[in-house]
Amino acid sequence: MAKDPVRVLVTGAAGQIGYALVPMIARGVMLGADQPVILHMLDIPPAAEALNGVKMELVDAAFPLLKGVVATTDVVEACTGVNIAVMVGGFPRKEGMERKDVMSKNVSIYKSQASALEKHAAANCKVLVVANPANTNALILKEFAPSIPEKNISCLTRLDHNRALGQISERLNVQVSDVKNVIIWGNHSSTQYPDVNHASVNTPAGAKAVRELVSDDAWLNGEFITTVQQRGAAIIKARKLSSALSAASAACDHIRDWVLGTPEGTWVSMGVYSDGSYNVPAGLIYSFPVTCQNGEWKIVQGLPIDEFSRKKLDLTAEELSEEKALAYSCLS
Ligand code: NAD
Ligand code: LMR
Repeated sequence: MAKDPVRVLVTGAAGQIGYALVPMIARGVMLGADQPVILHMLDIPPAAEALNGVKMELVDAAFPLLKGVVATTDVVEACTGVNIAVMVGGFPRKEGMERKDVMSKNVSIYKSQASALEKHAAANCKVLVVANPANTNALILKEFAPSIPEKNISCLTRLDHNRALGQISERLNVQVSDVKNVIIWGNHSSTQYPDVNHASVNTPAGAKAVRELVSDDAWLNGEFITTVQQRGAAIIKARKLSSALSAASAACDHIRDWVLGTPEGTWVSMGVYSDGSYNVPAGLIYSFPVTCQNGEWKIVQGLPIDEFSRKKLDLTAEELSEEKALAYSCLS
């Protein structure tokens, strides 16, 4: 018997990531090749015409899994009945704007969209925040949607995770699908800590530690980390636009693994509400290694953290605490 359609909200759907993401969702990349979907696309009135153009293209693409499209500038209509919400919409930093100005705009967007989701989304709606500052936008959304369980609110660091897999695969000249269990700790920003201490590669002789295969510690502790931390900026420099296809693909990976589960023995990175694991202050949205089963994530426990890593985990937590304080100061 055919499955009932799942309603997926994409905010900022007329933007770059939206344009790459909605066809992936409609093709089954996010939820599976047997899962029909109804897309809800939200943008702001100046983008209404472009949003309608995206809707026209979705119709023209004749995706068999796509059972309906809602394209709207009305946040209530957009949020009504959605099972999954991918929050990509936001205010970009413009020339001459201070960090606080951008934070202030996005905090008020996420505050009002939190209320709309809380009131109108389906029960148990899963939320993924992509728009920057992703961790802090997710935290504000959580604070202003108190009836949405905190386990249902997350932010995207899977792009950073995938970037780390990509760098290791290039360095070792192995298939990216043979590399696993890297970790992104902390903020989706240049203070994030891409950690390979527990990562491994499938080889014909069995799984081997990345640290054993890449014997160059200076590269792993230096250039590898900075390359992943600064990859977003490098893409902007090259494309004059921020990453879009890789961000959309990572958003699909994030939701797919959350809903359908992570493979046995494999973890992924997700920005989730800290419960104090690994001595990360509780009450931040922080990226951890997680496994997913039956639609729920669980932080991987008990990984040894050496002194080098400890400092990096703390540094990115400090930045998130500062962002949290700044976000609250914008609300008062
Ligand atoms: P974009 O500017 O092309 O698109 C953003 C869209 O959001 C625009 O269409 C805009 O009209 C819309 N928008 C603005 N305010 C809105 C609101 N209140 N409600 C609904 N829509 C609204 O930007 P993009 O390249 O698609 O990037 C989107 C966001 O994702 C940015 O904040 C970017 O920094 C972030 N990003 C995050 C990651 C990540 O890994 N977490 C990666 C890449 C980009
Ligand atoms: C990315 O990681 O590609 C983006 O978050 C960069 C950005 O600043 O939009």
